Amino acid sequence: MRKLLIAGNWKMNQTASQTEAFCLEFKAKGLQGHKVDILLSPSFTSIPAMISILGDTPVHVAAQDMCYEDRGAYTAAVSAEMLVDAKCSHVLLGHSERRQYFHESDEGVNLKTKQALKYGLTPIICIGETKEQRESNIMEEVIKTQLLGALADLSNEEILKTVIAYEPVWAIGTGLTATPEQAQEVHRFIRTLLEERTDMETADQLQILYGGSAKPTNADALLSENDIDGLLIGGASLKVNDFFQMIEAGDKLNS
Ligand code: PGA
Repeated sequence: MRKLLIAGNWKMNQTASQTEAFCLEFKAKGLQGHKVDILLSPSFTSIPAMISILGDTPVHVAAQDMCYEDRGAYTAAVSAEMLVDAKCSHVLLGHSERRQYFHESDEGVNLKTKQALKYGLTPIICIGETKEQRESNIMEEVIKTQLLGALADLSNEEILKTVIAYEPVWAIGTGLTATPEQAQEVHRFIRTLLEERTDMETADQLQILYGGSAKPTNADALLSENDIDGLLIGGASLKVNDFFQMIEAGDKLNS
């Protein structure tokens, strides 16, 4: 059985001192012994504050992006080596906001995925269709292009070290959640694509997260679906109680 992963994406929120306050309150709720994997992805500037408080807990810390190059003249970019040094274990790649506002391409996501794997970071590759794409029935094509593009040239062994996050763009930050059935249908489709790209065993082990207005009231229904192996949570991960409730929803299903 695949372990569930409850992941928070803080986007451009929380200063270092706000991060500290969150982490202290979060830690006080008890972070040991959960059945699910837990991850938080703060801004680069808040990573040290988070690590200083959560570093001795099982919570994984992820960056929200990184550069595809090792080092050098790439002003404002952050390298994989820097993330490893800062004690990140994961990195989000190809989030729809990066694609939409910063022109992230499938080729770029592929380069970054390879770079993350080279440095032992787990890439969480985000894919998902817009409302227009869903309505014009090209959703499957979009998902397939994004997924296979991100995984280009990778071996099955390397693909196994990635996590896929399905985040329908129309559901992100809008309060509109995909229904569990809608999400499951796409997750099934993604797993079938992964099976074609790798093999059944690999596809069976891969974690596919759902993201897009996930919250305490829908976490249980989403996580109960067969091919939904966790949540990538934006807004609700900024509230200690909401995020913790979603961890508990996962715990119940994973036990
Ligand atoms: P949301 O964001 O939960 O606020 O919709 C999800 C995401 O973008 O990862």
